[in-house]
Amino acid sequence: MTGMRQPAPGTSRAARVSAAVWLVAVGLLAAVLSGCGAEAEADGRALFATNCAVCHGAAGEGTEQGPSLLDARYLPDQLSDAEMAAGIRNGVPEREFEFGPMPGFPRFEDDDLDAVVEVVRELQREAGLLEP
Ligand code: HEC
Repeated sequence: MTGMRQPAPGTSRAARVSAAVWLVAVGLLAAVLSGCGAEAEADGRALFATNCAVCHGAAGEGTEQGPSLLDARYLPDQLSDAEMAAGIRNGVPEREFEFGPMPGFPRFEDDDLDAVVEVVRELQREAGLLEP
């Protein structure tokens, strides 16, 4: 009698386990899918916010620690993408300003450098300094 009233424990447990497995599988799939596409840009923004904004400002407008990246001397006709990437990787001596030198980012991969240079160009574009 008591045995009849109890739900079959094996079944409901199996159902719960398989539901949990599905949730994990769907979660993993969602994580993988959201990782695809537009990754370079997202990473560039995050890299810039973490590593550059402290000196150059969130929008590249400059701070007391570093110059504005919206300065005319950093537009593409004065500083190419390759030159900019080299400066970021190797650092920049105190040269144009009196903030002191800029530290290099030797651990940035080529993709990171490309992404962060692209962010600087986007900031210059958003400031109306480059053709859209
Ligand atoms: C500790 C402060 C500091 C940090 C952090 C920093 N910079 Fe700089 N950056 C400077 C200073 C100072 C200069 C100007 C040096 C000079 O010419 O006198 C500079 C110059 C530059 C230039 C001009 C390069 C050139 O060749 O003249 C670019 C582009 C630049 N920074 C981008 C970045 C990016 C992108 C990051 C993050 C990956 C970054 N900076 C992180 C301080 C900083």
